[in-house]
Amino acid sequence: MDALIVKGPAKLNGSVQISGSKNTALPLIFTSLLFDKEIHFNNVPRLWDIETALKILSIMGTESEWKKEEGLLTIFPKVTSKVAPYEWVKRMRASVLALGPLIARFGEAKVSLPGGCAIGARPVNYHIDALRLFGVDVKVEEGYIKAQVRSRLTGAHVIFPEVTVTGTENILIVASQAEGHTRIENAASEPEVIELGEFLKSCGAKIQGLGTQTIEIVGALLKSPKSQIRIPPDRIEAGTWISASMVTRSPLELLGADASVMKSTLDVFKSMGAKFSISEEKILVNPPSRFNSLDVTTEPYPGFPTDMQAQLLTTLCFAEGKSSVRETIFENRFMHVAELRRLGARIKVIKNQAIVEGPVQLTGAPVMATDLRASASLVVAALGSEGKTTISRIYHLDRGYQRLDSKLTALGVKVTRVSE
Ligand code: EPU
Repeated sequence: MDALIVKGPAKLNGSVQISGSKNTALPLIFTSLLFDKEIHFNNVPRLWDIETALKILSIMGTESEWKKEEGLLTIFPKVTSKVAPYEWVKRMRASVLALGPLIARFGEAKVSLPGGCAIGARPVNYHIDALRLFGVDVKVEEGYIKAQVRSRLTGAHVIFPEVTVTGTENILIVASQAEGHTRIENAASEPEVIELGEFLKSCGAKIQGLGTQTIEIVGALLKSPKSQIRIPPDRIEAGTWISASMVTRSPLELLGADASVMKSTLDVFKSMGAKFSISEEKILVNPPSRFNSLDVTTEPYPGFPTDMQAQLLTTLCFAEGKSSVRETIFENRFMHVAELRRLGARIKVIKNQAIVEGPVQLTGAPVMATDLRASASLVVAALGSEGKTTISRIYHLDRGYQRLDSKLTALGVKVTRVSE
């Protein structure tokens, strides 16, 4: 396993290219299973999660050709097995996105239950309950979700008890191929859901209400996409770099970042004193020399994203005064707190709220990455810490950030990757 050694306190010099969005690419890659002709993607990020998705597709018979340096991916859909095995699903929960396309196209699927996760229980009961409304028999047996369409897929009225991103995505896919009308209430309005919906529409799907809490779909015949599909920039990666710019007090250009999907993140950093110059091609971050504390709550889009919570908490260690961050999406997403405390952070967790006392000069120490965003927050913390921080188990980071260490090196940070 690899570890990163970061020498702080660091300064960032220059600009950084924001890579393609992981959580947009994954549902689009699984949706390829709906088609019978090859599909081309560009700006595909070079991530372990993408490797995992392609591995699952290949187990099902679907091969792909990925020119990693150029970010070009071609998928050749062909399904010889409708099983997503535990061995791979356990590595990435987003594998549950195989369920929707397999049911929509073949009327059956066998996808392993993902199991536990460092950030919360993360069950998939909302996916299963919603699928049953479409005339799908779903059994959970031997650790697998076994789904079989009874006679045909029929449109349904789905009311999600809580906003679920991949749940909405799976149902959007199934509904686009079901007979008749579907209404999804309490749907996720995340930009990644809109991207999937727009992609399906470009293939002939009839969908209205994307980006709102109610999505209406009428089943239609889909045609394979003709043009190349571009993966948009990753809004969470861009937000992570804003945190890095703040704690290092370094102005930073985020090339390719899309401010239009980052309003709540930009607003939070603005209220801490950051200034942004925004254009279509980039965001220039101008961090303040001292910054304000604040109270933030994570919420579904357009609220402040849970995927930025760990990075924000780290940034708040450097703010003047007491801040609080309330996590409302996942019940256990404060694993980074114990590690940040090892660097000297003053953070208390009471139920789903973290109270941070700042400013503190963090000092380097060995720490352990526990999940993707926690790992990113530890890298940000290391940049602002005095001395050497060794972050172990950074495979989590490689799942969702394209070459973070190379990007840091290019910005002038002293960072080394070692095998442990
Ligand atoms: N939930 C259930 N039952 C379900 C589905 C969800 O109880 O059937 C609960 C979850 O346990 C959670 C809440 O509902 O408490 C919301 O979970 P959601 O289903 O929205 O999460 P997800 O679809 O599994 C996606 C992202 C996550 C991101 C969340 C929230 C992808 C591939 N993953 O997960 O991304 O945190 O939405 O925005 O899109 C990450 O990139 O680091 C990451 C974890």
